[in-house]
Amino acid sequence: MKILITGGAGYIASHTNVELLKENYELVLVDNFCNSVYESVKRVEEISGKKVKFYEADLKNYSELEKVFEAEKDIYAVIHFAALKAVGESVEKPLEYYENNISGSLNLYKCMKKYGVKNFVFSSSATVYGDPEEVPVKETARIGATNPYGHTKAMMEQILLDSAKAHGWNVVILRYFNPVGAHESGLIGEDPEYPNNLLPFVSQVAAGIREKVVVFGDDWNTPDGTGVRDYIHVVDLAKAHVKAIEKLKNNQGTFIYNIGTGRGYSVIEMIDAFSKACGHKVPYVIGQRRSGDVATVLADPAKSIKEFGYIAELGLEDMVNSAWKWQSLNPKGYKG
Ligand code: NAD
Ligand code: WQD
Repeated sequence: MKILITGGAGYIASHTNVELLKENYELVLVDNFCNSVYESVKRVEEISGKKVKFYEADLKNYSELEKVFEAEKDIYAVIHFAALKAVGESVEKPLEYYENNISGSLNLYKCMKKYGVKNFVFSSSATVYGDPEEVPVKETARIGATNPYGHTKAMMEQILLDSAKAHGWNVVILRYFNPVGAHESGLIGEDPEYPNNLLPFVSQVAAGIREKVVVFGDDWNTPDGTGVRDYIHVVDLAKAHVKAIEKLKNNQGTFIYNIGTGRGYSVIEMIDAFSKACGHKVPYVIGQRRSGDVATVLADPAKSIKEFGYIAELGLEDMVNSAWKWQSLNPKGYKG
């Protein structure tokens, strides 16, 4: 069964590719390398001992993308990871974000319609809930993104749901909370040059690449005053995509699931856990709150457990140990 993976060289896609290959899916990857390198694809092949098909193409360019659909006639489903994803950057460059994420998705949806591909898994994000009124957050919570990146995700969801209704597509929307960690081999992982998210930053400080972590405020309404988030191991998240494909094989319709654990950790708990993993104290200072941050964001995983049969299995230790293994084996990421 052939699956088309957009953004196929990226962080979450590379882990998903490994899990899909384990289940003998045939993979066709598309990426324009705006935030990745080909080495991650080679590493996926090394881990799995299987080959994938790769097309370098930009989703913004309809004819480049159409060539892939033209060449790969029997695509069973698309998993759509390709997007720009940095919240802060999206505030600085909204047009770039809308163009990449919305135009790219529109081109993809148009190709699906033209070539009769009807099954779709979408990488959405807890960011669509913005500053949620109730935590843990249920899938029925109000959509209210607070930045251009979040708006693009909410729009991509809406356009997808409208198209699904019109064209009879089957869709699974996965709203990821905070993906972290790496594959147990240490061969693939997150490779940001300038990390925005907490764990890759802590990891680079632990490795001596950066001096110290700045904790964005210790006066939040949380047990230790620092922000609490629902971190999910990227391998657990990858497995949710295999489950989503299975869901599409056995069900028709559209389905939306939170992908988190329901268990939160504070910034200080994450730094402490990482310090244990790397064997020395990771230095940090308390700084100002980051604009747009909120105290606590947690998934309510009840619907995904009950209806989707999905349970995250890996815990905090697996998250930080695997992240540290990846960091220490690849001090310069895929380039090193
Ligand atoms: P990533 O940047 O590692 O992966 C995205 C990939 O898409 C990259 O390889 C990039 O080169 C590619 N890409 C982007 N625009 C493209 C285009 N126009 N044409 C072709 N390829 C393009 O990011 P990731 O963390 O793996 O995220 C994957 C998806 O998950 C994204 O849609 C992101 O919004 C979503 N998501 C990520 C997180 C997170 O914290 N990492 C959380 C929630 C949702
Ligand atoms: C986690 C906690 C920070 C960095 C973002 C996006 C979301 C999704 C996941 C894509 C917060 C604190 C962080 C640092 C810190 N991505 N922090 N010092 O903000 O929950 O979610 O990534 O869809 O859309 O918004 O994740 O990792 O940036 O922050 O103290 O240097 O760590 O304040 O409490 P966030 P994060």
